[in-house]
Amino acid sequence: MSAIVRNHVSSTERKYHETDSAYVLPNDAIEQDRLDAQAAAITEMIGGQPFRAPLGDQKDVAKAVDVGCGTGIATLQIASVFPNAQVHGMDISPVPASTKSLAPTNVSWTVGNILNVKATDKEDHTAVREIFAPGSLNYIFGRMLFLGVNDWKTYFEVVGDSLHSGGLVEHQDLDWKFYRAQTDECLSDKWEWHKHVMEANSGKSGLSNFAGSGAESHMKAAGLEIVSVQRFEFSFMPSDKTPNSIRMGNYVQEKLMPHYPELLRKMLGEQGLPQADLERFQKDCVRDLSSEPGVHQKYTVTIARKP
Ligand SMILES: C[S@@+](CC[C@H](N)C(=O)[O-])C[C@H]1O[C@@H](n2cnc3c(N)ncnc32)[C@H](O)[C@@H]1O
Repeated sequence: MSAIVRNHVSSTERKYHETDSAYVLPNDAIEQDRLDAQAAAITEMIGGQPFRAPLGDQKDVAKAVDVGCGTGIATLQIASVFPNAQVHGMDISPVPASTKSLAPTNVSWTVGNILNVKATDKEDHTAVREIFAPGSLNYIFGRMLFLGVNDWKTYFEVVGDSLHSGGLVEHQDLDWKFYRAQTDECLSDKWEWHKHVMEANSGKSGLSNFAGSGAESHMKAAGLEIVSVQRFEFSFMPSDKTPNSIRMGNYVQEKLMPHYPELLRKMLGEQGLPQADLERFQKDCVRDLSSEPGVHQKYTVTIARKP
């Protein structure tokens, strides 16, 4: 597949905005460039391929979806694995024209929220309901949705209902805790700013602190059979101890860390903290997340099958 070349962009002051509790950056060239760099770093971290599901074993795949597809990079990769399938990239934001221009004819793009499949309001949700029609999908992929999806029970109910018998779901996501390289020694339990983030997420935002490790139980509750659960270290600082995550550490330092002060301000906004505390937490956060080589979040890849 051809590489997607985005406009060269430099980092500037950009604000997160909130859509139904999702924290998203403006869907511009800077964000698209960041998401593509992140996707490449994730692929290296998990072993060189973007997907861990046994896709080669899947026969007769007619329909697949990339949920929260972002720039659509994984959608195109799914389409190249299943050139004869109907492949949907869907997201609450439109995919960039540069991706659309590269897409083969078996790819369709839809702007929509997966949670609206079960919405009871009077809006027209036909497009997402068609993608997630009961029993119609053979492969559902979702990656890095932890700042967006605010109702995981409903998310995986939609997944469970819409998979065809034998179909697979692959979910790749992060937990909010931070650990020492190659250990389960949690560093973030001692960080004051981090306690506030955990509390904010457990509050009314509906976001989960365990979007990665929590997927397994939601999938089981939705009637799916777990195929595999694999954990990887999503490094915030590169470390020789975790060579597959060195690219991730470099990406985080260069392109993700500059967003953390603003993300923190957004996440903690409703706690009514004094300005001085918020500013201190922003500084502590940047310091702690770069405090030692290999400091990481656990990245979980969970794969399940519809019986
Ligand atoms: C961090 S980006 C990841 C993009 C892509 N999955 C990837 O790994 O490159 C998260 C994306 O999920 C989308 N998103 C968040 N909540 C969503 C929802 N409920 N339904 C559809 N898309 C959603 C956001 O708009 C954003 O593009």
